[in-house]
Amino acid sequence: MANAEKWVLTVTAQTPTNIAVIKYWGKGDEDLILPINDSISVTLDPDHLCTTTSVAVSPAFTHDRMWLNGKEVSLSGGRFQNCLREVRSCANDVEDEKEGVLKSLKGLGDLHVHMCPTIDFPTAAGLASSAAGLACLVFSLAKLMNVKEDHSRLSAIARQGSGSACRSLYGGFVNGSFLKEENGSDSIAVQLADEKHWDDLVIIIAVVSSRQKETSSTSGMRETVETSMLLQHRAKEVVPERIIQMEEAIKNRDFPAFARLTCADSNQFHAVCLDTLPPIFYMNDTSHRIISCVEKWNCSEGTPQVAYTFDAGPKCRINFTQTEKLLPNFFKGCSFHFPPNSDTDLNSYVIGDQTILQDA
Ligand code: DP6
Repeated sequence: MANAEKWVLTVTAQTPTNIAVIKYWGKGDEDLILPINDSISVTLDPDHLCTTTSVAVSPAFTHDRMWLNGKEVSLSGGRFQNCLREVRSCANDVEDEKEGVLKSLKGLGDLHVHMCPTIDFPTAAGLASSAAGLACLVFSLAKLMNVKEDHSRLSAIARQGSGSACRSLYGGFVNGSFLKEENGSDSIAVQLADEKHWDDLVIIIAVVSSRQKETSSTSGMRETVETSMLLQHRAKEVVPERIIQMEEAIKNRDFPAFARLTCADSNQFHAVCLDTLPPIFYMNDTSHRIISCVEKWNCSEGTPQVAYTFDAGPKCRINFTQTEKLLPNFFKGCSFHFPPNSDTDLNSYVIGDQTILQDA
């Protein structure tokens, strides 16, 4: 055990969220969170849509506690416990230097922790807050407990918090690989290309609605696994081929191929949600209008210049290249008009560029 002095060791870390361009939907094992197919995502610029987590460990703490955005939440859920258990099992002693005195802090893995994640964008609105949140929690706990394991091992731990979280451990383009081991040890995230690889790729996030989604990703994908025949076809026949094509498109910075695959995969993901009993609707009318505008624009240009993708919520991610030329023309050409009703509070976050999408 650590010595009984009243010390507190703290670590603060930040982790960005990620956008899936080939989506994970469905688990083979609910406890280990083993996805039924590989996925590919783009990690956002860490200056935007980040979560910040401070964690602390001390012999004075009597139990594990968490405050999400300043409000205490229950830690009874198995996911947090699994992540905590796994990080603790890799803990190492720390040599801590204070006021010139080197103190050896032992037994960190046996002590209770306090965790304070802050998420400064809407949660449960389909903005992958759980991906960033869980990745940040695992990363900061690992730093706190002086875990020596590399990012791939940490990604397998974060995956046990949320399937999409494993991908936020890396920047750039990331494959959330589902492999063969039954215990999930080889279901890890792998970086395909770093954040500098495709630096004229611009991502806009249009928050069509910041209302909480009615069906969480976790329960939605459980219902889909139980009831959708289309999901089996998607996981076995469609996604493996798309993963290969998407990796090639990213390697070659081939935007038309990247855009075609991104849009097709978003549409098939939502088709699978519709094929669920009862059907799940994540998009709303505004989401559908964004799809029409992008499709019309790409059709008139003859080759895809803009891509959209929607996760488990109505908000949209629009990926652009050559934004300076395209952005003003695209929005003028499509004359976006988002009706100001209660379900539609369009905001935008522009990643990697300062251009702002205006609410018409
Ligand atoms: C549509 O990772 O939030 O965003 O593993 O149950 O926590 P759990 O689900 P989650 O699902 C993400 C689904 C998705 C696609 C994706 O990010 O790959």
